[in-house]
Amino acid sequence: MLKDTFGRSFPYIRLSITDVCNYKCSYCLPQGYKKNPGDMRSFMSFEEISRLTKTLSELGVCKIRLTGGEPTVRKDFFDILKDMKQNSNIPKVTMTTNGYQLNKIANQLHEAGLDGINISIDSLNRETFKKLTGHDRLYEILEGIKILQTLNFKNIKVNAVLLKDINDTPEEFEKFGNFIKNNKIDFRFIELMQTGDNLDYFKKNHVASKIFKDYLEKNKWVTQTHGKDAGPSLNFIHPDYKGKFGLIAPYSKNFCQTCNRLRITSRGDLRLCLFGNTGISIRHLLQNDNQKDELVNLIIKQLHLKKESHYLELGDTGITPNLSSTGG
Ligand code: 5AD
Repeated sequence: MLKDTFGRSFPYIRLSITDVCNYKCSYCLPQGYKKNPGDMRSFMSFEEISRLTKTLSELGVCKIRLTGGEPTVRKDFFDILKDMKQNSNIPKVTMTTNGYQLNKIANQLHEAGLDGINISIDSLNRETFKKLTGHDRLYEILEGIKILQTLNFKNIKVNAVLLKDINDTPEEFEKFGNFIKNNKIDFRFIELMQTGDNLDYFKKNHVASKIFKDYLEKNKWVTQTHGKDAGPSLNFIHPDYKGKFGLIAPYSKNFCQTCNRLRITSRGDLRLCLFGNTGISIRHLLQNDNQKDELVNLIIKQLHLKKESHYLELGDTGITPNLSSTGG
């Protein structure tokens, strides 16, 4: 089992398979994805990812989340997913997606054996959604969710970034509430995080998550405890709702104490923290099956360097220009 010097263990890996995203979310890639001329390395190949996955499974990892960018823009996305499900011993393979073609691929995701899906929907208002993301795709996403539900797909989560004057009012909270009233979906607000690229945007649009927590408490939602490979979300339940509400508050005190994940970027850098300054490449050890022991040793050694906190509250965004480059 992977452990750091603060006693935290890491059963959960967020694995980015591409930086490319077709959306232009105002808080992430407002100008759309552009290649970074300073880093022309290719994204990890199917073979490299396959080797990595098998090694991670030997290190006790029990959950891998495929992220991006938008993971489904990769032509071999389904090959990667199926390989993980069929040829590694990772019990849970999940993904984060913007859902732009969810209505088209929902069936395939289910067939491939995907264990959970996180979909970003920052607004349930078509116009607002379009303005925020640059794409008029809300309908396709909601259709996709319906298809997944018809297939009895269990673990559906929806994420929205909490944004000033966009989705931070009781009326907006209520809209999301209506959405999960009869839908067994976890809906979570993520507090906007400052990244290397978005300081002005952050200053204008950041809202403390307390506003949502207060709303939930006022409306009789009660907190729930969670499992060992669960995310950092504080979850709330209500007897009148099938779905759950959740809150991801990266600026809250002790947020990092329960950190249980490591990140691997699409170019094969191991990141110990979303906002860390360390990004050592492990890719040279993904070239051959007989490099497995070396890879195991390198990951364990690196883990000893993991810091206690992200220090984000000090404005230290590390080497993260935006979340599409680190897998969100
Ligand atoms: N702050 C908070 N959440 C963000 N996401 C992307 N950028 C940011 C940011 N700066 C969200 C996406 C997606 C998840 C992976 O991270 O909207 O829901």
